[in-house]
Amino acid sequence: MTASARPSPAPSHHHRLFAGFGGRARDAHAGMFGLARHADWYESVPGRLARPLYRQIAKDVAAAGLPDDGLVLDVGTGPGRLPRLIAERCPTLRIQGIDLSEQMIRRAQSSLAGADVAPGRITYQVADVAALPHADDSVDLVVSSLSLHHWADVPAGLTEIARVLRPNGSAWIYDVRPVLARIVPEARRDGINVTLQPLASGEPRRRGLARLFSRAGRGLIGRLTVPPR
Ligand SMILES: C[S@@+](CC[C@H](N)C(=O)[O-])C[C@H]1O[C@@H](n2cnc3c(N)ncnc32)[C@H](O)[C@@H]1O
Repeated sequence: MTASARPSPAPSHHHRLFAGFGGRARDAHAGMFGLARHADWYESVPGRLARPLYRQIAKDVAAAGLPDDGLVLDVGTGPGRLPRLIAERCPTLRIQGIDLSEQMIRRAQSSLAGADVAPGRITYQVADVAALPHADDSVDLVVSSLSLHHWADVPAGLTEIARVLRPNGSAWIYDVRPVLARIVPEARRDGINVTLQPLASGEPRRRGLARLFSRAGRGLIGRLTVPPR
């Protein structure tokens, strides 16, 4: 069943915020106000700053004890750096990255050419989190980094993520903590029993900007866990 076939949940904070601006503002936000069309720049600047976060997520995935050939879905993958890092640490997993932006997905696909990854282990696809192209109960682990705050319809996205998870699966959404904190009561009202945690510690010491981000990011970023439906 797709999100559109379900009864609509109560409008969320995000919905209410964007309702006042109309569809164009929602589209602009989902497209990162034009940045989603500049995938090369995104990868070289913000993508570099967020490396400690990607490393932490890859480490969390490696510790999850997923079965060989297990499927990890990265929602809002952008230029697809996180799937490549996960594949380096966990070569037996399959990783799919989806993103609303065609430019980001093209960038992600072209970067696979130089990556040390077995053919077919990583795939990228244009898709909306609110209408995932996956079958029910088909994904072992969903991850997402710094994407939820751009979603036009957060409740629909969370409902879709819960739908595609296998019965013993889990989803970890990493994003800015104040945004995630606002989502918690709304998701629970919609019957999705999410939990919010601070980022796990243990990232090795970094230098320069990455170190700054590492310190600041640790307090700023949280992890929202979404259970299967
Ligand atoms: C700030 S970028 C983060 C990219 C990547 N996860 C990272 O950490 O580098 C946010 C991404 O979310 C994507 N996005 C926004 N709304 C989306 C939606 N409804 N479904 C899927 N992806 C979406 C954008 O196209 C963009 O690539």
